[in-house]
Amino acid sequence: MSVWAILVAAGRGERLGLDQPKAFAKLGEDPLLAEPLRRLEESAWVDAIVMVAPPGWEEPAILLAEELGCGKVVAAVAGGQTRADSVRAGLAELGADALVVLVHDAARPLVTDEVVGRVLAPLSEGWDGAVPGLPVADTLKRVDGKGAIVETVARDGLWAVQTPQAFPADVLRRAYADGGSATDCAALVEARGGRVTVVEGDPHLLKVTTRADLERVASWL
Ligand code: CTP
Ligand code: MG
Repeated sequence: MSVWAILVAAGRGERLGLDQPKAFAKLGEDPLLAEPLRRLEESAWVDAIVMVAPPGWEEPAILLAEELGCGKVVAAVAGGQTRADSVRAGLAELGADALVVLVHDAARPLVTDEVVGRVLAPLSEGWDGAVPGLPVADTLKRVDGKGAIVETVARDGLWAVQTPQAFPADVLRRAYADGGSATDCAALVEARGGRVTVVEGDPHLLKVTTRADLERVASWL
């Protein structure tokens, strides 16, 4: 089977608040995008990579891939307004040989071969998708606009999910065909009745949202 990775890096990084998009913020010595790119390139599971860059940043993304010697990169395309639009732009670049698609947030730089293997495994058992996740450890409260607690939400069975998320290519294409939007891919597959399973994630797959996150991930490099 041919596994294609779509690396979504087209967000503006508003909460990080730098002059350049989050994918080009410095993480250690290199732009943040370099870390997940290098890791997907080196993953034995991945055959081809499509990068989805912020509009106008396709060229720097390709140059970075060349600099890093990432021969699996087949395209860098411009993303859209939302994450779902960016995933859709990446899906349009999939080759006819793509049997399985892994969608990964560039904002989670520390992707490992182990977690990629874990999300791919359930697909050969007939699942329509697999996502990495961690059981929620904190007590959860629903809070209204004025800061008052409305209720305590039962934590049983709640997981915080991450990426990379894996799907058979035809399943993911169908899920994105009708213009829907969601904050992760699995939600669109679930909405069509797809069966998606959760596998063990990794605390180091932390999503870089704020400057503190960026420093934290940098300390793990
Ligand atoms: N993403 C994308 N296209 C968008 C929005 C998000 O490709 N229009 C990607 C981001 O680049 C990131 C992932 O989706 O890798 C998760 O998004 P998020 O962490 O929210 O990143 P940003 O949208 O860049 O950050 P912010 O919401 O603070 O602007
Ligand atoms: Mg965002």
